[in-house]
Amino acid sequence: MIYDKGIFGGIPWLDHTPGIDSLRIVPPEKRIPFPVSRGTPVFLQESIQTLLRTLTARDPYTGHHSARVTDLSLHFARFLGLSSQEQESLKIAGYLHDIGKIGVRDTILLKPGPLTAEERAIIETHPLIGEKIVEPLGLLPQERQIILHHHEAWDGRGYPHGLARDQIPLLCRVLALADVFDALTSDRPYRPRFSWPDAVTEIENLAGRQLDPELTEKFVYMITSRTPQIFA
Ligand SMILES: [Fe+2]
Repeated sequence: MIYDKGIFGGIPWLDHTPGIDSLRIVPPEKRIPFPVSRGTPVFLQESIQTLLRTLTARDPYTGHHSARVTDLSLHFARFLGLSSQEQESLKIAGYLHDIGKIGVRDTILLKPGPLTAEERAIIETHPLIGEKIVEPLGLLPQERQIILHHHEAWDGRGYPHGLARDQIPLLCRVLALADVFDALTSDRPYRPRFSWPDAVTEIENLAGRQLDPELTEKFVYMITSRTPQIFA
């Protein structure tokens, strides 16, 4: 079988990760020195690519999901008129938001069925693990917050810290919408994907509970009025 030679060199389960080539290139003076004898600098773009490849090798669904969530978050950020710095932070943290799943064992991460309460508690540690994994990268505070708080809920019943409403940073609430929508419209081992109208209805049902209601209204408007541009 012949595959297109994409950014991952034609490795089938790593290809088709849109947008990563355009990640921020850190200027030399801002690169973080890595304290080994050779003085090798850490390159942020390459580090993010490596982490995403690692995640995709471990769990292809989550790797590809991360790329799609990043893409959709950026469309939403532009639709909202967020700044270029905010968009860049969403791009960086979007790729890495689920990196902590690397630290969850296969029997839970890849379980082809509903999780027990104990298994769910373990998988809910992934934002904390993720924030620890990216610590050496020197990401901006809002980028680390996205990784740590992307599962907080508007009603305070999310995790890991149970933040509510405006306590949840805006970029986390923006990414959460793209995250939930992509999960709903993806086939999972334990359920088929939601149809497009059903996914929109479900997103609306989650407004005010899991999702920021004002942002949800804007997100639904965006995906129902701009679908051809976003998903072409
Ligand atoms: Fe997550």
